[in-house]
Amino acid sequence: MSTFDLTRLLPADHFSTALRHDVRTGLTSEPKTLPPKWFYDARGSELFEEITRLPEYYPTRAERAILTARAGEIAAATRARTLVELGSGSSEKTRLLLDALRGLGTLEAYVPVDVSESALTAAGRALSAEYPGLAVHGVLADFTDRLGLPPAGGPRLVAFLGGTLGNLLPPERAAFLRGLRAALDPGDFLLLGTDLVKDPAVLVAAYDDAAGVTAEFNRNVLNVLNRELGADFEPEAFAHVALWDPEREWIEMRLRSLASQTVKIPELDLPVHFAEGEELRTEVSAKFRRERVAEELSAAGLRLAAWWTDEQGRFGLSLAQP
Ligand code: AVJ
Repeated sequence: MSTFDLTRLLPADHFSTALRHDVRTGLTSEPKTLPPKWFYDARGSELFEEITRLPEYYPTRAERAILTARAGEIAAATRARTLVELGSGSSEKTRLLLDALRGLGTLEAYVPVDVSESALTAAGRALSAEYPGLAVHGVLADFTDRLGLPPAGGPRLVAFLGGTLGNLLPPERAAFLRGLRAALDPGDFLLLGTDLVKDPAVLVAAYDDAAGVTAEFNRNVLNVLNRELGADFEPEAFAHVALWDPEREWIEMRLRSLASQTVKIPELDLPVHFAEGEELRTEVSAKFRRERVAEELSAAGLRLAAWWTDEQGRFGLSLAQP
């Protein structure tokens, strides 16, 4: 027997309240910005899954290679009873950790935490069917404002994979890691995936693929605003832009207005003007070096216990402890 249940840590109106707040703040600031979490409606989550299969988008494959090689070591080092996964999405790479922890006989529960109810439910149902005896407790939460860690079931291994940490700006990252540290008990572990600094041409191609899937993913956030806030964005009136910022060592995705246009957002009673060529920043995806990961962890009170990369040094996986 296996079980799947879902806990909503958010009031029913959380998403619309938070979306309204983020859209009003972001589209009235200079330059205009939107937080990347709004990409992930059902269509956006699907498009992201498609991105992970693109030839140019190496992070998913690189991280999977590390996990394939190291899952046994991770299981042996942590002996986790509970695997918590922040930003679990399709939970695709999670199976490697679940298998290793089950092989060891320590694992009892899997707790995927995500903002996408559709992704969470699909992954939770599939995993509880595949892993008899495993308790799967899905948590619908925005881990940037509430972690959603289960209070018991230690030792816990908290996995934050895919390089999603890089979506947070440096001060948000510091606050997130401090909050995570505060929620961990002695004996718990953090498993953190970070994409690494490399040839800018490789990085830019990963965020501007030839098939145009990332462009569609980027524009999809405008469909979210149209549906949720009654806005009248024309996604085709914006071009997809991906660029490398060498100082800050991050990729930015933007939407560039192809014309001078004013968009209405009735639910916010907000007209938003875009000059021709004006850009709206939709995502930051920071790339790391080992020293910076160790420093940021240490500033949050976490110690780097192990560091692995794939053979080509494209992606880093850290195991850290309070
Ligand atoms: C899911 C946040 C890790 O930043 O690489 C993929 C999202 N954006 N292509 C990333 C994304 C554009 C992705 N993360």
